[in-house]
Amino acid sequence: MTATALLEFALETPNIRLIAREVSWDSVVFSTRVLQLQEFELLDQRAAFYDFKNYEGWVAKEKVGVVSCRLPNERIRESMFLEARNFKFIETVLHPCLNRLQHRSFEAVNLNVATANSSDLDILVDVAKQSFGYERYHIDPRFNSKRADERYGRWVAASLCHESQRLLKVMDGERLVGFFVVEHKRNQEIYWHLTAINPRWQGRGYGYRAWLAMLRHHQMAGYRSVTTTISAGNSRVLNLYAKLGFRFIAPEKTFHWVNELA
Ligand SMILES: CC(C)(COP(=O)(O)OP(=O)(O)OC[C@H]1O[C@@H](n2cnc3c(N)ncnc32)[C@H](O)[C@@H]1OP(=O)(O)O)[C@@H](O)C(=O)NCCC(=O)NCCS
Repeated sequence: MTATALLEFALETPNIRLIAREVSWDSVVFSTRVLQLQEFELLDQRAAFYDFKNYEGWVAKEKVGVVSCRLPNERIRESMFLEARNFKFIETVLHPCLNRLQHRSFEAVNLNVATANSSDLDILVDVAKQSFGYERYHIDPRFNSKRADERYGRWVAASLCHESQRLLKVMDGERLVGFFVVEHKRNQEIYWHLTAINPRWQGRGYGYRAWLAMLRHHQMAGYRSVTTTISAGNSRVLNLYAKLGFRFIAPEKTFHWVNELA
């Protein structure tokens, strides 16, 4: 796709409030306009139906291909409304969280955490392309999984010089065991965007050790908490977080609308 202005639509009436914004990197990966409903709130469900038609008319006019929306789990009215408008439920996401990092002790594991550099990129992009299978674009059968792989590869590549995200690698001597894309938040909190063990080395205890190495790394840097997002269907990583003693904060649900005609 050639560079064009990013799409944005806002609707605020007594019945509904929504803001839809284009996600430029996903538009490139999926070769269609991909938007996210960043705000979505129903005030009067019945009357909102008519107002929503303005948004739907705009989506059709702009030839939008995909719209995604993530809602807090308890927003059932909004969920039902979206489903009635042809959005499909895709996944529940969980948010593992470990707080009080400075008051915990983590076993030493003899792995090294370092900032990745451009010479690591080929292997890290490859690892990212091969690692993910439970995330929304992989499990939604309307998407080509090669494009979903590409999405994660590009994400890792972009994180190398991102304004707020950082790409960290976990090494066992010369062996590149895995990577973490992290973002520093306010109040000494850290958020893990993407995490993976190199598929070559999965199932050998590296996941547990790499996660411990990362927790020690953040602890030494003075951070207070770690939070992340996982798909509820990813039982491997769910068990890993349970083993590490993480707690889970309020879950969310993901919906996709796909223009079947595009
Ligand atoms: C999830 C992942 C990090 C686990 O790494 P790993 O090196 O294979 O895991 P380990 O061998 O260290 O096992 C650690 C724990 O993970 C859990 N686990 C690992 N493989 C599992 C499996 N096949 N089924 C269920 N639990 C599993 C277990 O709790 C295990 O400890 P236990 O066996 O003592 O209970 C790895 O599979 C991975 O990178 N997956 C792809 C990327 C991903 O899903 N990232 C997270 C979301 S962004």
